[in-house]
Amino acid sequence: MSFKVAVVGATGNVGREMLDVLAERGFPAREVVALASSRSNGVEVSFGDKTLKCKSLETYDFSDTDICLMSAGGDISRQWSPKIGAQGCVVIDNSSAWRYDPDVPLIVPEVNADAIKGFTKKNIIANPNCSTAQMVVALKPLHDFAKIKRVVVSTYQSVSGAGKEGMDELFSQTRAVFVSDPLETKKFSKRIAFNVIPHIDVFMEDGFTKEEWKMVAETKKILDPKIKVVATCVRVPVFIGHSEALTIEFENPITDEEARDILREAPGCLVIDKREPGGYITPHEAAGEDATYISRIRTDPTVDNGLVLWCVSDNLRKGAALNAVQIAEVLVNRRLIAPRKKAA
Ligand SMILES: NC(=O)c1ccc[n+]([C@@H]2O[C@H](COP(=O)([O-])OP(=O)(O)OC[C@H]3O[C@@H](n4cnc5c(N)ncnc54)[C@H](OP(=O)(O)O)[C@@H]3O)[C@@H](O)[C@H]2O)c1
Repeated sequence: MSFKVAVVGATGNVGREMLDVLAERGFPAREVVALASSRSNGVEVSFGDKTLKCKSLETYDFSDTDICLMSAGGDISRQWSPKIGAQGCVVIDNSSAWRYDPDVPLIVPEVNADAIKGFTKKNIIANPNCSTAQMVVALKPLHDFAKIKRVVVSTYQSVSGAGKEGMDELFSQTRAVFVSDPLETKKFSKRIAFNVIPHIDVFMEDGFTKEEWKMVAETKKILDPKIKVVATCVRVPVFIGHSEALTIEFENPITDEEARDILREAPGCLVIDKREPGGYITPHEAAGEDATYISRIRTDPTVDNGLVLWCVSDNLRKGAALNAVQIAEVLVNRRLIAPRKKAA
């Protein structure tokens, strides 16, 4: 069986990564189509050893496309995903537009692949926020063992999480500092070069930001509605790779040794945890990799059953493109979709 796959947002950070991941994993695609805005008509993007010319989403006919990997932001997704789904093409969306819709499964395959069944209601499946995806991959096996009650998470999120404009801003500001040019701030609310910004997405009434709220709501939907989460999300001057410091409180006992053994066996996780200088992972090493890396696992001495750990992953891969392609693989491997022909 082979499928026709469209990638919407193919010129963007996540879209380009999706094309790479599809090619690397040998996804059973008979054809891959690159779509973006009409501004990018004819722009070339790489797909394995081939080059694809971008077409415009606006004029594309989805009637014989099986899967649409969508990463063009919430507004585009709200406008297009229902129309594409209604044409019988399954949309796997990377924006936050559909994540909290009860008729749309929110999936991290290592954690809740079985929840995918409900996708037929809208033909839309949501991919979580990048910070949530890596966190739930690390939490799931620990939750299964000792039942998590509460998680306190602080994130250190790279600028690629804010799209290609975010990466350009870090690059141009860093250069401007070195050549003593004036600094221009467009994408972020304060300068990001040689700085950290405790603000991602918009502020909400209770003082949390939307990014922080997303981590709470999405963990409940994907993993367990009973888990309490409180988050502080921070942008740091790193190009690729999100890091998280997690403080986890459990209902039942769990030692740091047990956690290390459990995480070593857990799907999607790689434990790098030597208690010596450099015996841990940083975003620089996680960039371009698929794993969720876990380091610095230790017992929290301030509560009865607690652990503290450090978790790093490539936000463009597990946080977005890889997770989306893994969802598509679940659809294919479980035979939840079949390739279709163009409507007569
Ligand atoms: N970056 C991450 O870590 C991450 C993680 C999880 C989820 N996401 C989500 O993934 C989505 C894309 O993020 P990104 O980082 O790849 O952003 P990006 O680098 O800014 O890319 C945006 C993409 O959307 C396309 N686009 C814009 N307007 C369009 C239109 N009217 N019709 C069709 N395509 C249009 C752009 O095409 P043009 O080049 O033609 O403008 C570009 O390909 C966002 O919803 C984001 O929240 C990102």
